[in-house]
Amino acid sequence: MSKKPIIVFEGIEGSGKSHHISVVSKYLTKKKITHIKIREPGGNVSSEKIRRLILNNKSNFNKNTDLLLYLAARSENINTIESSYKKKVILIDRFTDSTIAYQHIGMGVDINLIKILNKFLLKNIKVDFTFLNLVNKQNLYSRLKKRKSLNRYDKFDMSFYNKVQKGFVKISKVNKKKYQLVNSNLDIKKNEQLILNTIDQLIK
Ligand code: TMP
Repeated sequence: MSKKPIIVFEGIEGSGKSHHISVVSKYLTKKKITHIKIREPGGNVSSEKIRRLILNNKSNFNKNTDLLLYLAARSENINTIESSYKKKVILIDRFTDSTIAYQHIGMGVDINLIKILNKFLLKNIKVDFTFLNLVNKQNLYSRLKKRKSLNRYDKFDMSFYNKVQKGFVKISKVNKKKYQLVNSNLDIKKNEQLILNTIDQLIK
């Protein structure tokens, strides 16, 4: 594996992935390891514009439009990723697995279409490792309730998130060596340590 890997943080809402990616970014900064941290949808000025459009509560796109908008946002990130690929550690908050889990498994968009579009955008870019954060229904519910404002994708019913989370787990089983499952119902500090131990292995 490259010493400058692409590391992705995946999981449903309230699973703690954004917290953990920030902890990892601070850790790398402390160790003076050059890295970039981006999120999807979003990550740069143009992509953040698309994010606001997709997640706006007043938006009412169909599932195919959503797919194309998520991929449009990804398209705007590819240059950013390419310019740091194998030169810096790249941390990404959600990436291609989210598209399969939400748009295909959750919403039923054609998987082949998603694969073709991702391949077209990513070309030779490959994710090296993924932390998949898992949360139970109770914690998901209470974490969403605590959020100050909910966007369009924070408002699905619990069965949808359950389906998407099971989808993520299924995806991870295809290449188990490239995934670490993080049980975010457990102690957050212990999880941070588990993740940082793996990060040490990934960048050594
Ligand atoms: P976030 O709140 O974790 O930043 O994610 C925003 C939402 O976008 C989240 O509900 C998942 C959704 N999403 C997709 O449905 N498909 C995708 O390809 C990506 C990247 C995100």
